[in-house]
Amino acid sequence: MKNDKAYIIANWKLGITNLADAKRLFTTTKKTANTTTRVQTILCPPPMYLEPLSQLVTGHRCALGAQDIFYEDQGSAVGEISGKMLADRKIGYSILGHSSRRARGESSEDVAAKVQSCLRNSIIPIVCIGEVSRGTEEEPIEPSIYLAEVEEQVIQSFGDIPKTAFGNIIITYEPVWAISANEGSREATPDDAREMIVYIKKVLADEFDLKKTDHLTFVYGGSVDVDNISNFIHEDEINGVLVGSASRDADEFTSMLEESNEIMKEK
Ligand code: PGA
Repeated sequence: MKNDKAYIIANWKLGITNLADAKRLFTTTKKTANTTTRVQTILCPPPMYLEPLSQLVTGHRCALGAQDIFYEDQGSAVGEISGKMLADRKIGYSILGHSSRRARGESSEDVAAKVQSCLRNSIIPIVCIGEVSRGTEEEPIEPSIYLAEVEEQVIQSFGDIPKTAFGNIIITYEPVWAISANEGSREATPDDAREMIVYIKKVLADEFDLKKTDHLTFVYGGSVDVDNISNFIHEDEINGVLVGSASRDADEFTSMLEESNEIMKEK
């Protein structure tokens, strides 16, 4: 992975519910993505639309990613989509361990097995890490508590992957309390994001014996929109963003691609 580009990842979640809308959003976004040469755009639609949208992919600037994969390549797991199937359809990325899935029972050990599946199938995993809460303004949670939560998630979500694999992973710091769909969510600041990314790098260096961490790719996710994206892209420690609700508005999302492209040209 190279960090001379910003990675702008769209997580459509279950927000698009018919193929015509999915194709329209993909085609409009692709048109802009093809011109924003300093941005790698990755669109993650619901699984149902991966196959038809894969037929609209041209070139590499607007790539497709899954929102999840199963950890076995093949077998008897009912209703799952495997990394092997995605690789067959040339889907090159997959979000893993999104907090919405963790909240529905996905463990960090599951995530680690899915990371292995991605690496086996030459898919770039986009691994989500983030604490659930920092408390409220009146009753903030002690930093040592949420730092320990993040540390445990990092260690368990990467399991025993070889340290050379980290160069082929996108790590997303996505504090659950900053995700727009979550009740009572509030925006994290670029400082919050930078500080936690620096902390995660330290955990990786210590636990996985990484001599260097500055080549790793980190993106931030949580309520990123057209009004605040530039603050995150300007940060040197942040190599891109994962965007939920704002990615389903074609005008807003394409403006975000253009703005990021301009910032990257100046960097
Ligand atoms: P949001 O979602 O941008 O709507 O906060 C981000 C995510 O959940 O990945």
